[in-house]
Amino acid sequence: MRLTCMFSFILLFGAAGLIVFIHLQDPAEMVHQQRLAPEPWLNGHLKGMKFEFSLHQPEKDCTANNQYGDTMENAAKQLMKINQVVPSYPPYQYAAMLQNTNRRQKKMMFLKRENKKSTERKLLKKKSRFLLKETPILIAMNSSAVDLTRLEIDDKNGKWKKLYEMQIERKKLMRDICSKYKSSSRRIITPYHVSRIFVEDKHKLLYCEVPKAGCSNWKRVLMVLNGLASSTKDIHHNTVHYGNYLKRLDSFDRNGIFYRLNTYTKMIFVREPFERLVSAFRDKFEHANNYYHPVFGKAIISKYRKNATKEALWTGSGVHFTEFIQYLLDVHRPVGMDIHWDHVSRLCSPCLIDYDFIGKFESMEEDADFLLHLIGAPKNLTFPRFKDRHSNEERTTNKITQQYFAQLSPTERQRTYDFYYMDYQMFNYSKPFEGLY
Ligand SMILES: *[C@@H]1O[C@H](CO)[C@@H](O)[C@H](O)[C@H]1NC(C)=O
Ligand SMILES: *[C@@H]1O[C@H](CO)[C@@H](O)[C@H](O)[C@H]1NC(C)=O
Ligand SMILES: *[C@@H]1O[C@H](CO)[C@@H](O)[C@H](O)[C@H]1NC(C)=O
Ligand SMILES: *[C@@H]1O[C@H](CO)[C@@H](O)[C@H](O)[C@H]1NC(C)=O
Repeated sequence: MRLTCMFSFILLFGAAGLIVFIHLQDPAEMVHQQRLAPEPWLNGHLKGMKFEFSLHQPEKDCTANNQYGDTMENAAKQLMKINQVVPSYPPYQYAAMLQNTNRRQKKMMFLKRENKKSTERKLLKKKSRFLLKETPILIAMNSSAVDLTRLEIDDKNGKWKKLYEMQIERKKLMRDICSKYKSSSRRIITPYHVSRIFVEDKHKLLYCEVPKAGCSNWKRVLMVLNGLASSTKDIHHNTVHYGNYLKRLDSFDRNGIFYRLNTYTKMIFVREPFERLVSAFRDKFEHANNYYHPVFGKAIISKYRKNATKEALWTGSGVHFTEFIQYLLDVHRPVGMDIHWDHVSRLCSPCLIDYDFIGKFESMEEDADFLLHLIGAPKNLTFPRFKDRHSNEERTTNKITQQYFAQLSPTERQRTYDFYYMDYQMFNYSKPFEGLY
């Protein structure tokens, strides 16, 4: 009797193990894991942390939304693509790509060709699925879908005209900074570059999300524009973050991405970098959080806190702002970057994607009104002012930001400013402190 019992237990474990194994092999799952790693350029930092990432899901903030549903769809699409057109580019495209690609990408295309010769079909499918992610898309830099005739419609006191001129100024500055600091010869957009752009097809709008700069409310607006809800008021926080309603641009095929980038209004909303940083810190580290505390908090406390208590090391809670800044400025960060405090210039690639509209969190109401007017949104749709997380807490203001930065040494302040220098330059924010150079 006992033996039979034991035997069936062993069988059961065997079967469970097999199921887990099969599950791990699931292609959709693999793509999913790939997408969960926050930034490809950080994979180096995070290699040892793969397991942690599958254990702790990133918070469903502006960012993690849509991940799973999208991924399944993506995986299916990718598979279809592979079955139909095993990567072989028309000669003209191939030549154009070669002209514009760097060595690494050349190598990848070379790999692709090698794969083609390979007789092992399974291997081919697997490898090319990942390589497809790197497929470059070339787009023109000069495309603006903003319809100027709309400016003349109900322009009270020349308000629209003033805002339009401000947009021209902001765009010009962004281009100038891009050409000053970035090589202009590289114009290659990979699906990765557009993975943070949300698509609204009805009003031909593309929105690149910048966390901590009003992205939840912009997603509400996009959902109303899309006809998914009749009013922004009706959309609960969880629906914005958990209900996979909005499509990301990287979920379309090459032509779909290319077409939308060239014909839709591409918009971005930014925020004063220090204020955005403090807002992210307060949100992620000053409140209970089952992703940022165990993943970032633990690593930060164990590296930068002398005599840390066992409890702090165990929970990762209670990170001080000074410790957080030490982590941020550390060349050898114990954990990677995160989109909540990464540069806008890296999140949305403004030097690659020529945004038509640059809005600012500081003038959100005015800028949002103007954008909604430009795209011909219903008159009764206005930008909401919900504060999604910790709604009873005061919004991060300039005054609060100053208080946090007062805890730092002048050198740390300078280095943090240097860290966000591109964002300061590109979006014309003035120096946040006296004495910075
Ligand atoms: C954009 O295209 C227009 C003509 O279509 C041209 O006059 C203008 O100079 C171009 N701007 C840039 C920045 O290339
Ligand atoms: C930058 O901002 C200042 C005000 O802070 C403004 O006077 C100036 O015109 C802006 N420059 C650009 C290029 O937007
Ligand atoms: C706005 O107007 C449309 C009809 O034009 C209506 O369906 C919708 O419910 C209105 N929304 C609000 C918030 O009043
Ligand atoms: C850490 O603890 C040791 C002994 O418990 C003490 O000598 C040392 O000064 C402490 N260091 C700090 C930075 O508190």
